[in-house]
Amino acid sequence: MHLLSIESLSDDHIAAILSEAQRWFDFNRSARRNDHRLDGLTILNAFFENSTRTLLSFEIAANRLGAQVVTMQVEMSSIKKGETLEDTARTLNAMRPDAVVIRHGRAGAPADVAALVDCAVINAGDGTGEHPTQALLDAATLQRHFGRIKGLTVAICGDIRHSRVARSNARLLERLGADVRLAGPPSLMPDGATAMTVDEAVSGADAVMMLRVQRERLEDELGDAPGEFLDRYGLTRERFALAGPGAMVMHPGPINRGVEIDGALADDSERSLILTQVEMGVAVRMACLDLLTAGRRGETGSA
Ligand code: CP
Repeated sequence: MHLLSIESLSDDHIAAILSEAQRWFDFNRSARRNDHRLDGLTILNAFFENSTRTLLSFEIAANRLGAQVVTMQVEMSSIKKGETLEDTARTLNAMRPDAVVIRHGRAGAPADVAALVDCAVINAGDGTGEHPTQALLDAATLQRHFGRIKGLTVAICGDIRHSRVARSNARLLERLGADVRLAGPPSLMPDGATAMTVDEAVSGADAVMMLRVQRERLEDELGDAPGEFLDRYGLTRERFALAGPGAMVMHPGPINRGVEIDGALADDSERSLILTQVEMGVAVRMACLDLLTAGRRGETGSA
């Protein structure tokens, strides 16, 4: 079994991961945080794009479950000598890892690797494709805070067109019964998306998930004046006041303070779930690693 996209997960798998993640979240707050169910297994991280949250949370998750964790130093690897991704995948496979966690700049790269290896492959973000474990941790964060996902209104705002986070979240949250609204600069909306202003999307929402501004693609929308994007499309205190009572701020990170989000709003512990998302990232990845390696351990898995 691989975890390549939200579609690759059955409803039962999603329910089990979300439920187990809550248990691991509590476990991770306990004094002794080591479990041994992955003893003797090797988890290999191969990140071809930068990451802080996803890479470290997979490393911590695998360590807490007792696995041996190896993180490929891509900059020091033979990729730099021209070795293809396919030959790299065959080479990694010959070292007999029990799961490969891959982030890559090309959508579909994790699926290509999965076709060449004998172990589980987890997509940790592939270009403008998907970021399924981010969506799972976002859903688990909503579940923990609100006690439910069904019936929530979630506004996802920013660069929707290029966002793998938006794509995975929309697919997962809608499947779980949330009303998902997408909004952003018109040029950064996917073809055929319903036109909605950020103000309209935020109005009455239970959660507002801002996306990182990808500066390299946004020269026109950013404008010349500092703060122009924030005023027009970002999450200011004034705009967040349009959200529903008890509404919460989310962001997958990294954040651009003063660009897509007011820094003080991101830091407001009464209103922001951003650091809970990070904490939940470890828990969700523990649930995913448990589920995906269960077959190798001769178990059905607790997730
Ligand atoms: N949310 C997320 O994927 O962050 P990183 O790029 O730091 O892993």
